[in-house]
Amino acid sequence: MNNLSVEHLIGIKELSTEDINLIFKTADSFKEVINRPIKKVPSLRDITIANLFFENSTRTKLSFELAEKRLSADIVNFSASGSSVKKGESLVDTVNNILSMKVDLVVMRHPNPGAASFLAKKVDAKVINAGDGTHEHPTQALLDAYSIREKLGSVKGKKVVIIGDILHSRVALSNIYCLQKLGAEVMVCGPLNLIPKNMKDLGVKVSTNLKEALEWCDVANMLRIQLERQDETYFPSLREYSMLFGLNKEILDSLSKKIVVMHPGPINRGVEITSDVADSEQSIILQQVENGVAVRMAVIYLLASQIER
Ligand code: CP
Repeated sequence: MNNLSVEHLIGIKELSTEDINLIFKTADSFKEVINRPIKKVPSLRDITIANLFFENSTRTKLSFELAEKRLSADIVNFSASGSSVKKGESLVDTVNNILSMKVDLVVMRHPNPGAASFLAKKVDAKVINAGDGTHEHPTQALLDAYSIREKLGSVKGKKVVIIGDILHSRVALSNIYCLQKLGAEVMVCGPLNLIPKNMKDLGVKVSTNLKEALEWCDVANMLRIQLERQDETYFPSLREYSMLFGLNKEILDSLSKKIVVMHPGPINRGVEITSDVADSEQSIILQQVENGVAVRMAVIYLLASQIER
């Protein structure tokens, strides 16, 4: 198979295991390219990509932009702050105006779940979801699983615990789908009121005991508390959260085996993870960021190869 089964990347839920493996195989080639002295290929010289960010981003925005430049695409960047969205322009009008400038592919981050899927039905361009509210963040899950594969040789059979604010996290849901499709066992751990009720229906283990969860896993993916998405108080204080669910060196060193530590960023140092753990040799946080460029190059390349040119 050398083509994706989907026309857009909206979520991991719609991808097959073969799609994910094709993205990884393609990312392996691009990882080799970005480590060469000349880190660029001419593959998308005739393709124009619009990066539409209706919500803040550092890693995803820069990573997509770099991936597009490494593929030699032409790019336009749009962020909602400072745009006519502030004057009341709708999402479809905004995007159609951008598409009339002959854009082939749209990368979009939006605060509303379902925004990427809505857009894909309305516009004549490929759409990549760069995070839609609390729904999915597919390229984050792909780069996370790719980084586990790189570190441990395979994702199949590995035990991965996702720790923190699962309720408000698009990264958690995309990771669950991706890891399960690749044959990993998944657990979520955090305060019970930050764990959605449907986790067991998804075949995911649930724990509220950090030490127990860490003893079970090969990989711990630490998530940020998403205060900006919380409309009520879920725990007494960040200090209390950190005491019960924060990963520190003392707990890490007390485990019976060496686990791999991940974090999608942005990190709240001293809340969900201490600096000495985030910067330790067990952490692959910066490798995740590096792999993000190769994985996003693969996704863009594979979707663009479906465009008639
Ligand atoms: N991991 C992630 O999505 O980070 P940004 O919000 O900075 O893009």
